[in-house]
Amino acid sequence: MMQAVSRRLGHQYIKQSPSISSIYPLSDRYYGGERYQSTLTTKGVGHLVRKGTGGRSSVSGIVATVFGATGFLGRYLVQQLAKMGSQVLVPFRGSEDSHRHLKLMGDLGQIVPMKYDPRDENSIKAVMAKANVVINLIGREYETRNYSFEEVNHHMAEQLAMIAKEHGGIMRFIQVSCLGASPSSSSRYLKSKAAAEEAVLRELPEATVMKPAVMIGTEDRILNTWAHFAKNYSFLPLMGDGSTKIQPVYVVDVASAIVTALKDNGTSMGKVYELGGPDIFTVHELADLMYDVIREWPRYVKIPFSIAKAIAMPREILLKKVPVPMPIPAIFNLDLIEANSTDTLVSGNALKFEDLGIVPHKLKGYPVEFLIQYRKGGPQYGSTVSEKVTPQSWS
Ligand SMILES: NC(=O)c1ccc[n+]([C@@H]2O[C@H](COP(=O)([O-])OP(=O)(O)OC[C@H]3O[C@@H](n4cnc5c(N)ncnc54)[C@H](OP(=O)(O)O)[C@@H]3O)[C@@H](O)[C@H]2O)c1
Repeated sequence: MMQAVSRRLGHQYIKQSPSISSIYPLSDRYYGGERYQSTLTTKGVGHLVRKGTGGRSSVSGIVATVFGATGFLGRYLVQQLAKMGSQVLVPFRGSEDSHRHLKLMGDLGQIVPMKYDPRDENSIKAVMAKANVVINLIGREYETRNYSFEEVNHHMAEQLAMIAKEHGGIMRFIQVSCLGASPSSSSRYLKSKAAAEEAVLRELPEATVMKPAVMIGTEDRILNTWAHFAKNYSFLPLMGDGSTKIQPVYVVDVASAIVTALKDNGTSMGKVYELGGPDIFTVHELADLMYDVIREWPRYVKIPFSIAKAIAMPREILLKKVPVPMPIPAIFNLDLIEANSTDTLVSGNALKFEDLGIVPHKLKGYPVEFLIQYRKGGPQYGSTVSEKVTPQSWS
């Protein structure tokens, strides 16, 4: 298999490929076309030339283009890559503000933002031209007038894999999918993520797929959304009876899994990892944890799935019909309601954190501490054990 991989990604393949310079006119112009004549092996990135003691001023040898770096997981991944002395190319499509927090994570010149257009193949090639690693974090759990689930989650991933394959110098491709992604899911979001996994592995069988469960951290879109809602409306809608089981994971652990996979000697190539946290929660229990940290007495309104879907439906119907952007769905997102109507747990025979030598954090203490910003009496309110929240104190 390694020979086949070598043919596809390695030195010989590049030499035999007559079209490579025509595919990458930009990179050829800047780098004289020599860059692709790499002597890098395809056994992971373990054979890259490394210099230094391992800190951010060292050279890890990794030059990674991280698509979707401007998002939630992106900031933790870029930080970990930069910390070990990698160069990180950050394609961005928005304003300069979307990536400026990332610049501080590395030494001068280490984090390189590059404006691109996700619908322009040449601009994707340009941001990939200098890389030897590609990581795809692009994903969206709601549709807009501009972008369908299929385009963002599936077709973009497929296109990145195809371009990486043509590139010839990409040694590792990591696709971030989603736990529960399946062609048979009732959620179109999860279906499109499953289609992306299939497409990426078809193009690049040696790619690594990471399937994180719902991610928790300072910028997360679950506990923050719940806390926001609970603060504004003094209750939290609980879909179904809140008994759906999930396995939330700390975002930093997911970033570590990606970096660990990159550093191995190729053992994670062609593998799919399911990344769930160490504990299984029901949605109700996770919401209780949120209430506990924000020091408020839990108040829930249980909403049957059918009614929750009915509330979420008008946005989906109007999305393509009205000529104005629709509000971003937070709690009542049809696809997330569909996704949360069944348990989403790491399967027994899947490769997990342990297979990468990582012990994931429990969701208590630091990983959920950001929620103290939602405490009514200020962040320090109720921080001592004696100040227990009671129903009376919130009646
Ligand atoms: N968050 C979770 O709980 C969770 C759980 C499981 C799996 N995942 C998956 O993990 C990956 C990272 O998640 P995340 O929470 O970091 O996502 P995020 O915060 O929503 O960031 C998504 C990234 O994708 C980019 N993106 C979205 N739509 C795009 C488009 N049409 N064209 C180009 N770029 C686009 C965004 O760029 P802009 O900044 O320009 O919008 C952003 O950089 C995603 O693939 C997601 O599906 C997330």
